[in-house]
Amino acid sequence: MILKEGDFVLLVDGEKRYLKRLTRDFSLSVKDKQVKFQDVLGQEVGKVIKGFCLLLPTLEDIILLGFKRKTQIVYPKDSFYIAFKLNLSKEKRLLEFGVGSGASTAVFSQLAGEVWAYEIREDFYKLAKSNWEKFNLCQNVKLQNMDFLTAQLEEGFFDAAFIDVKDPLPYMDKVWKVLKPGAPMGSILPTTNQVSDLLRAIEGSFCDIEVLEISHRYYKINPERLRPQDTMVAHTGYILFARKRI
Ligand SMILES: C[S@@+](CC[C@H](N)C(=O)[O-])C[C@H]1O[C@@H](n2cnc3c(N)ncnc32)[C@H](O)[C@@H]1O
Repeated sequence: MILKEGDFVLLVDGEKRYLKRLTRDFSLSVKDKQVKFQDVLGQEVGKVIKGFCLLLPTLEDIILLGFKRKTQIVYPKDSFYIAFKLNLSKEKRLLEFGVGSGASTAVFSQLAGEVWAYEIREDFYKLAKSNWEKFNLCQNVKLQNMDFLTAQLEEGFFDAAFIDVKDPLPYMDKVWKVLKPGAPMGSILPTTNQVSDLLRAIEGSFCDIEVLEISHRYYKINPERLRPQDTMVAHTGYILFARKRI
């Protein structure tokens, strides 16, 4: 694939990575290296030009390096796993609320048939939309700028649900109603006391409950001295999964 004007390019220099759009004013300078629009235009993906390997960004790169964030986001390390645990596929309709910066929705929409997404704040609703539009994502998402509690929804309408709000408790009755029997729901919560509260709230109405967290420990890429990096992201959130029981 040949890089053309307007493409997003991931430039990799060792363990450093930069996501840029190939516009006429494109230029990247890192220490003694500099690469400009004319150096990259027309080059084949995978080539190393002036010390930078030219790649197309993956969804993870887009979320981590390309999305504007004004909320906490669900990191791909969590959302990639959540998407499969919710058993999403092209025949499935997912409910999601709080959309925030749109990071988790961008992952779920890749696997789901439709995502019905709710964001209460207008500024975050606009932010999520602009993040998606910039990277041509989420065409199968019906995003509404409203409180999920006020949404008029049929009972048993959704195949799965994902909840990322500060306090999910007030929404659990409605989530239960709009899910199909046996359907999975997931929620991400930063503290253990929130998990305990949610466990108490869903007792009797959901089954097959799991709580976990996901840590990634990256390694220094040196075959002679292969060992973990000195610092890591030690905690993002606890993830709770459960299925609607009747
Ligand atoms: C942590 S952010 C979500 C981040 C998002 N999942 C992401 O990956 O970018 C939580 C969001 O929930 C929204 N929110 C809170 N209560 C809501 C409700 N009742 N209905 C819809 N959105 C709500 C907040 O405005 C906020 O944007």
